[in-house]
Amino acid sequence: MSMPSDVTLIEVGARDGLQNEPKAVSANIKIELIEKLAAAGLSVIEAGAFVSPKWVPQMADSEEVLAGLTAHPGVSYPVLVPNLQGLSRAVAAGARDVGVFISASESFSQKNTNCSIAESIERFTPVVAEAKAQGLGVRGYVSVVLGCPYEGDVDPGYVAELSGVLHRMGCDAISLGDTVGVGTPAKAGALIDRVAEDVPLGIIGIHFHDTYGQALANSLACLERGVTVIDSSVAGLGGCPYAPGAAGNVATEDVLYMLDGLGVKTGVDMDKLMDAGQFISDYLGRPPVSKVAQALSAKRAA
Ligand code: HMG
Ligand code: MG
Repeated sequence: MSMPSDVTLIEVGARDGLQNEPKAVSANIKIELIEKLAAAGLSVIEAGAFVSPKWVPQMADSEEVLAGLTAHPGVSYPVLVPNLQGLSRAVAAGARDVGVFISASESFSQKNTNCSIAESIERFTPVVAEAKAQGLGVRGYVSVVLGCPYEGDVDPGYVAELSGVLHRMGCDAISLGDTVGVGTPAKAGALIDRVAEDVPLGIIGIHFHDTYGQALANSLACLERGVTVIDSSVAGLGGCPYAPGAAGNVATEDVLYMLDGLGVKTGVDMDKLMDAGQFISDYLGRPPVSKVAQALSAKRAA
């Protein structure tokens, strides 16, 4: 099995990480977090979601967050959009990259977006067309790819089919979400093999939540298949409000430590990443979930 020489880390802490936080986090704190993540060398940092504020109040200030960010060369700030209304808001706020999201199970689709999978494909078709017409980058997320909290097992062939639909719709990249973090390495690896039959391997990213502590092992299985894009969340923040019991995304510090150890280049600096993680953990009043962050901060303090 080979290993890629370079991996792009997509930092989702300020969006996926914070969307589930019950305590309102001010736009200024989000901006400071994102700036620290950029300073750490992360080049793709999800900055918010133009979803319905009734559904996810924590993301209601995404306009303010985008307005407050500094443009750094080579750094992008993608945002999620759930419909045309969300796309209009995102474009007005200056977003250059957007994400659309569908589910591989009917129940999760209803819970997360109040519509069936077919309806969400129909809803996103004009969103992606309009985003592409405006020259935006578009990523398509597929959720519950390794299991659904309401329906259990999910067919990898169906995930591949949906990934193909998003790709043909115009999405430049696909993110495969283990929303509830139930996957195990053989399943994760087999999913990549199957999805790569329908869309180019180079555009497939993995987005693993770490509920069962399998996300790093699952990521390694995917790296060995040639995956070069990993979504992760600083300090291991996160969860989805519509996936009960789901933990945060795999921690960026943990992924970086593993990739550094494997000699895979990311351009991310661990010390500065730790500063970003410590900043948001102090603000939230709890230690980072990341084991690497815990170990390295104990070492720093010694
Ligand atoms: P709905 O209630 O069916 O929508 O929600 P609606 O069109 O009937 O609108 C209801 C109200 O919301 C209206 O306001 C709209 O104007 C407003 P009212 O007339 O009642 O005053 N509205 C909006 N306002 C601002 N921006 C918008 C917008 N859209 C509608 N864009 C909808 C349908 C899709 C909008 C809703 O279900 C929604 O926003 N869902 C998003 C849920 C969400 O953000 N989930 C987390 C992100 S996905 C995720 O975390 C998974 C991922 O990480 C990958 C993984 O882990 O698997 C990506
Ligand atoms: Mg997620």
